[in-house]
Amino acid sequence: MPQAAPSATDPALRVDDLSLVINDARKPISAVNDISFSVDPGETLALVGESGCGKSLTALALMGLLPDAIRVSTGSITLHGSDITTLSERELQKRRGDNISMIFQDPMTTLNPLVTIGNQITETLRIHRKIDRGTARERAKALLERVGVSDAERRLDQFPHELSGGMRQRVMIASAMICDPDVIVADEPTTALDVTVQAQVLALLQELQREAGMALILVTHDFGVVAQTADKVAVMYAGRIVEQGPADAIFAAPKHPYTEALLECSAPPPPIDGRARDRSALPQIDGTVMPLTQQFPGCRFAPRCAFATERCRTEVPRTRGNRHTVACHHPRQDLDTGVGS
Ligand SMILES: Nc1ncnc2c1ncn2[C@@H]1O[C@H](COP(=O)(O)OP(=O)(O)O)[C@@H](O)[C@H]1O
Ligand SMILES: [Mg+2]
Repeated sequence: MPQAAPSATDPALRVDDLSLVINDARKPISAVNDISFSVDPGETLALVGESGCGKSLTALALMGLLPDAIRVSTGSITLHGSDITTLSERELQKRRGDNISMIFQDPMTTLNPLVTIGNQITETLRIHRKIDRGTARERAKALLERVGVSDAERRLDQFPHELSGGMRQRVMIASAMICDPDVIVADEPTTALDVTVQAQVLALLQELQREAGMALILVTHDFGVVAQTADKVAVMYAGRIVEQGPADAIFAAPKHPYTEALLECSAPPPPIDGRARDRSALPQIDGTVMPLTQQFPGCRFAPRCAFATERCRTEVPRTRGNRHTVACHHPRQDLDTGVGS
């Protein structure tokens, strides 16, 4: 089917009313519900929420890499002028690497332990572009140097286990970038790294993104990471986007009680007796995320929410607002006067 050519003003990626279902033995169970967002070239969108909220499923859907048991039930994912939910596996493969690529949390499970660093990085390049081995190797070497891997020539012939965690994640970034994709999806790319390396890798990712004008979708549970990187934020709770808007508006005036609670839990803790508390002293939101597979007639945050009323337990809140949206019956900021509304 012919597709409209993308125009310069189109977002790099747009998701409209996307729902994902898990194919249970008895009936399909709705896992991710009606989510919409878009990201422009050169922009970073953070997809934030606790573990179990459906962030990784969403990320995999963008790549056309959902597990067998899960499928797109409604909505569209527009990348480079076409809806990728309608593409064949062969067409999807062309998009991956070329138009969109992904960085996973744990490079050790993504990198092939038996393939040299050089061959892992150039694999996508050699599939997508008809270039010879020598040129591909030169490109990989230059990119390794660009992502801060020292002694790049020697590293090309090493195997993943010979590198540190931070270096492996830099290799993953180089692999994701080798075909100059329009969009990079990074799913908790720094969670497995220690704090110092985490900050370096995030800074690198941002630098590369700005240079190349790529759109970045950064999946994280950590508002600290969001503060460092994001232009826009979508807060996800139990399969729904509950709040979305420009990062500065969300930080200045969160509207959803869940966003507010997440922010409270990630704010730098005040010093006690002149000494800084460590992160383990940060508050936690009481309770746990409702499983995506559990049916519930109202707002799924209601069982954990201090402001919940009977209406919250029985009626799913509509998404309201324009630039800064919220799906809550009792938003924490006035919808009319809140920042960004
Ligand atoms: N392959 C799968 N089959 C069935 N259910 C799944 C599968 N993958 C994920 N899920 C369900 O979706 C939930 C959310 O998954 P995920 O997207 O990984 O959340 P997050 O990345 O926000 O932590 C999981 O807790 C699980 O219940
Ligand atoms: Mg995840």
